[in-house]
Amino acid sequence: MSATVRLRAFVPADEPAVAALFAEPDVAQWNPGPADLDPARWCADNNRGAEGTDFRTWAVADPDDDRFLGTVSVFGMHDGHGEAEIGYRVRAAETGRGVATAAVAAACRRAFTELAPTSIRLQHAVVNGASCRVALRSGFALVATLPGTEPYGDGQLYDEHLHRLVDLSRFTSSVRTG
Ligand SMILES: CC(C)(COP(=O)(O)OP(=O)(O)OC[C@H]1O[C@@H](n2cnc3c(N)ncnc32)[C@H](O)[C@@H]1OP(=O)(O)O)[C@@H](O)C(=O)NCCC(=O)NCCS
Repeated sequence: MSATVRLRAFVPADEPAVAALFAEPDVAQWNPGPADLDPARWCADNNRGAEGTDFRTWAVADPDDDRFLGTVSVFGMHDGHGEAEIGYRVRAAETGRGVATAAVAAACRRAFTELAPTSIRLQHAVVNGASCRVALRSGFALVATLPGTEPYGDGQLYDEHLHRLVDLSRFTSSVRTG
């Protein structure tokens, strides 16, 4: 299924939904927020993070009613050779209709326009099958399976898939042609 989404800054009306997102079991396990989450501060910090850094977290919104659907982030460009990383979260009630896949596409386009990474990578626990599908549907090839190095929400390490965007033109062609 394919959804249409809009990436935008966080607004105060998102704060209850941001708190609810981080309380959802799959998000708490696979892409948790801070233990002492203060939604207002978290939203403000992420909006500010866009200024003068290579860290971008956008609110993913429904283009029809501006409903908050989740988050998508691009970060880590300066940890290696200019390759950025992408991560995402979708409200449980909004999953299964292509929201994450649409958010990844929109975030990749923004990243290549605003940050110009050499490529984008994506890592997820092997057992997180939904995230693997999002990666593959979005054109991120599976390039390696690695032993986990950072604990997930339950404090455990999990083997991870490393995916990498191989065909950059999928998201950069509109940039090149203006
Ligand atoms: C993973 C997540 C972002 C998916 O969001 P979504 O909007 O449902 O994603 P999409 O609808 O774009 O695609 C979901 C795909 O996963 C598949 N899927 C769903 N549950 C699955 C499961 N348990 N096992 C395997 N595939 C699964 C869907 O069928 C779909 O693939 P398809 O279109 O080929 O059928 C969402 O579930 C989430 O936020 N999870 C918690 C946080 C997380 O895991 N973030 C990623 C960390 S790297």
